[in-house]
Amino acid sequence: MRKIIIAIDGFSACGKSSTAKMVANKLGFNYIDSGAMYRAVTYYFIEHYINPSNPKEVEKALDKIDISFIFNEKLGFSETYLNGSNVEGHIRKMEVTQRVSEISALPVVRRRLVDQQRKLGKKRGIVMDGRDIGTNVFPDAELKIFMVADLTVRAGRRQKELLEKDQLVGLPEIKENLKKRDKIDSEREENPLRKAKDAYEIDSSYLTLEEQVEKVLQLATEKM
Ligand code: C5P
Repeated sequence: MRKIIIAIDGFSACGKSSTAKMVANKLGFNYIDSGAMYRAVTYYFIEHYINPSNPKEVEKALDKIDISFIFNEKLGFSETYLNGSNVEGHIRKMEVTQRVSEISALPVVRRRLVDQQRKLGKKRGIVMDGRDIGTNVFPDAELKIFMVADLTVRAGRRQKELLEKDQLVGLPEIKENLKKRDKIDSEREENPLRKAKDAYEIDSSYLTLEEQVEKVLQLATEKM
């Protein structure tokens, strides 16, 4: 079977990452969470008080940022490292989530991260999820998935995930954040969130995680 690139795009909290992780494990592919890269940059900007509207400051900060992924055998997936430190515990917090779309819309940030994402996919055999993977990062991906889901279902799932990390956030706040991120992600000038022409749409509102994974695996097998 040949090694292919599977691009999974879609709105926030549609189940992209969970699906991508499981698909990668089943196929023995690498999983790359491109959102984690934007989150790591955002976390760095918050920690170092970087002003996103100052291009020089942004460029300088980006030169100091090194993002890598290290596979955690126990968890069965890769974790995100920023300048050598594991930042998984920080990058999913609400303070990062609230700023990440604004920082991701900066063209200079996108160019840097897209370059790195393309390098990570050079050998193929990867599943990458994000917002512009099928349209921009890997327009030649063999399989492109576009995930959608009902807003209330998405907010409920995100709330449960946050609770598992001991963060209690109300549904209205989560819904507002999802709507705001969807809007910024879809309306930004540089590579906005779009469904690629050749992408398969999966509505995950009423599917279990296993059903989502099964659908993607079926499509992947046809391409391999
Ligand atoms: O996937 P996740 O929700 O963790 O992504 C966080 C944010 O990173 C998104 O809301 C979006 O603003 C940004 N992002 C992006 N392009 C990607 C992946 C994520 O702009 N390829």
